[in-house]
Amino acid sequence: MKTYRRHYYNVFSSFYDRFVSLHSADKEGRLRKLLSNASPLEKGDVALDLCTGTGAMLHYLCNKVGPKGMVIGSDFSHGMLKEGLKKTRSLENVLLVESDAAYLPFKSHIFDAVTCAYAFYELQGDAQDKMLKEVIRVLKPGHPFLVMEHDLPESMLIRILLYIRLLSMGLRRAIDILKYEKDILERYFVKVEKISLPKGRSKILVCWTDLAYSKQARTNK
Ligand SMILES: C[S@@+](CC[C@H](N)C(=O)[O-])C[C@H]1O[C@@H](n2cnc3c(N)ncnc32)[C@H](O)[C@@H]1O
Repeated sequence: MKTYRRHYYNVFSSFYDRFVSLHSADKEGRLRKLLSNASPLEKGDVALDLCTGTGAMLHYLCNKVGPKGMVIGSDFSHGMLKEGLKKTRSLENVLLVESDAAYLPFKSHIFDAVTCAYAFYELQGDAQDKMLKEVIRVLKPGHPFLVMEHDLPESMLIRILLYIRLLSMGLRRAIDILKYEKDILERYFVKVEKISLPKGRSKILVCWTDLAYSKQARTNK
């Protein structure tokens, strides 16, 4: 099953960026910039972008952490990462890592923030639960996991396009996740804040592991 999914993404990778700009009308990737802006990352921090695909998030995260920081993009599709490599060649502080989100090859508690854009609902089987456990393991205590996902768009046309895309994921399951992902995340995180984006096309969910610690960590900085 996983091999089939990897093949699917490898094939998809060569036209993924064109497909996204058509389907989301977000040619400059402004939505992903909003996700990066929502993170409390600072200069010198270390960030992980899970299921990074062709790396659309990476240069925004790089801008936030600056040249003394570090950004890692990980994905299990070699094809997606190959496209990502083309985009990030000029960035010195980016590393692309081929890995399954359910089994991250990183030490515990090393990231200041973990992001994941438009991939949570695509994780199959028990990958979603395993990924969330891994996210909590690799995050520094009190630091956030930021998820960007499709929302149910106000425009009927965009909604139909989204449903067509979701058909390839298993429509029923994908709709359930779109509706209930906050509940799923709340099983793992003590607080999940939802930020709705204009026109209902996307949303950001900011997930905190330990509120007491995060407050203290920020005031001590
Ligand atoms: C819809 S794309 C999103 C890519 C990117 N985050 C973006 O914003 O454009 C979903 C990505 O998730 C990756 N993916 C799916 N399941 C995965 C898994 N179990 N482990 C790692 N990557 C996975 C796919 O290879 C694909 O690149």
